[in-house]
Amino acid sequence: MRDHALLHVNGVAREVRGRDAFMMLAEWLRKELGLPGTKIVCAEGDCGACTVLRAFDPPGSSFPEAPFEAMNSCIAIVAAMDGAHVVTVEGMESEGELAPAQAAMRRCHGSQCGFCTPGFVMALSGMVEQHAGEPIDRRVAANHLTGNLCRCTGYEPILEAACSLRTSEAHRVGPRYGTLDRRARARSAMESGFEVEHDGLRFAAPTSLEEACGFAAANPGFRVVGASTDLGVPINKGRPMPETLLSLHLIPEMYEARADDSRVSVGARVPLSRLRHLCADAAPEFARFLDLFASPQIKNVATLVGNIATGSPIGDTLPFLLVAGGAVGVASLGEGDGGLKRREIPMTELYRGYRQLSLAPGELITHVTFDRLGSDRFLRLYKVSQRKDLDISTVSAAFSVKLDRAGGGGAVGVSAARLALGGVAATPIRLPAVEEAIVGTLDAARIESLAELVAGSIRPLSDVRGSAAYRSVLAANLFRRFGRELLDG
Ligand SMILES: Cc1cc2nc3c(=O)[nH]c(=O)nc-3n(C[C@H](O)[C@H](O)[C@H](O)COP(=O)(O)OP(=O)(O)OC[C@H]3O[C@@H](n4cnc5c(N)ncnc54)[C@H](O)[C@@H]3O)c2cc1C
Ligand code: FES
Ligand code: FES
Repeated sequence: MRDHALLHVNGVAREVRGRDAFMMLAEWLRKELGLPGTKIVCAEGDCGACTVLRAFDPPGSSFPEAPFEAMNSCIAIVAAMDGAHVVTVEGMESEGELAPAQAAMRRCHGSQCGFCTPGFVMALSGMVEQHAGEPIDRRVAANHLTGNLCRCTGYEPILEAACSLRTSEAHRVGPRYGTLDRRARARSAMESGFEVEHDGLRFAAPTSLEEACGFAAANPGFRVVGASTDLGVPINKGRPMPETLLSLHLIPEMYEARADDSRVSVGARVPLSRLRHLCADAAPEFARFLDLFASPQIKNVATLVGNIATGSPIGDTLPFLLVAGGAVGVASLGEGDGGLKRREIPMTELYRGYRQLSLAPGELITHVTFDRLGSDRFLRLYKVSQRKDLDISTVSAAFSVKLDRAGGGGAVGVSAARLALGGVAATPIRLPAVEEAIVGTLDAARIESLAELVAGSIRPLSDVRGSAAYRSVLAANLFRRFGRELLDG
């Protein structure tokens, strides 16, 4: 058992213990390592000023090269970075030469006050790492910059800088920092679990599920930490860090992600960006929808299981999981023999109330599964938020119908339906009355009456994002849109 987390920063190995282990990465880099190039502005994952690159070889993996990807360092707990290699803006220069993204920002006048600039440079460098050898167009560039805000330069020169980058240029950080010796050192450290403590706080990372469940059983009140993109925000706003944190990042099973002919299975530590990749083929509408989820910096680390376990009624993935027959796999230690006990909880039974999950004490979520929807299903996922990118939903919807005969004359035949909404109740919900009523021949007139039924089936609350009346109108209008898209084929 180690008494420290091990991470590399700009090529240097760092063993982290005590107070440092419980700091947020951005603060630690700036205050303890003297690397102030990483800026902290919002401290909640929204502005990208704190962007760094991270490479991580999951335990048990044998990837030829662990990619360096952009992430926000302001909401990442240092201990949870165990095994990772972090590169900050200070590590980008090579032999006195600016990195391509730095040179492009200078060439295209992409910086004025400069406070956001290190974050943009790191986001662009993440893009260079991920698109090596590919051309960069405005769409790719804009996508990689979704998580970065600049309040004085304006985005045009920055986009120009992005599009002028040639991804074949030298100075990629992958080959420079992701060397075999460093990766071997991280892998060998990750074969042992670790525990660090400071001032009443405890962070444990075991290497097997049995040990993790043993820890959970022995420590009531523990919290699992994934990428802390949810957990980290309230901590930065002054809420105390949970006293006992359990990380599953050293357990190989947590990184499994696969799709067979009927079902997709995603381990608790699979980042959303990897899930998006898997779903491009296995669940294309969900993959498209994930493009609207947060920013690359968030998706490169955040997990599907974290989105589920947070239990927010506006968690973007939840309506989809409700209509796709989603279920979470959970594990705990059995009471009798103390062996590992596993069970599945359907998504329809997971939420007991606002942010309340039907997990028994000591249970951990190990993975989530959902159906691959066949070609006889028509599925659409919608999200309404105040801005398109990097925003929390006001209302989200997943509507799926099973078609039993081809349309014609402006109508389709529906034999079954699953319809779900987020943001209209304390939990994400299905709409059983509408699901029943929709079966039969569906035309424009019935879509209109069913839209009224959608609005009548929900009792939303008012909050800062929208009044109850507005949410009802949104839900009905999303259904009308679905109906139109269905009739249009
Ligand atoms: C800037 C920003 C933008 C965001 N945009 C979106 C968005 O567009 N849509 C959206 O839905 N969400 C969004 N989020 C919220 C967040 O990113 C997601 O909910 C994400 O999926 C959480 O994953 P995580 O791994 O970071 O979870 P964490 O923050 O690590 O954990 C979240 C919760 O899940 C619990 N948990 C984690 N793993 C397990 C497990 N294995 N077993 C039991 N409990 C577990 C934790 O204890 C915690 O309560 C955003 C957050 C930020 C900061
Ligand atoms: S400081 Fe704004 S995203 Fe981290
Ligand atoms: S250059 Fe000033 S905030 Fe971007």
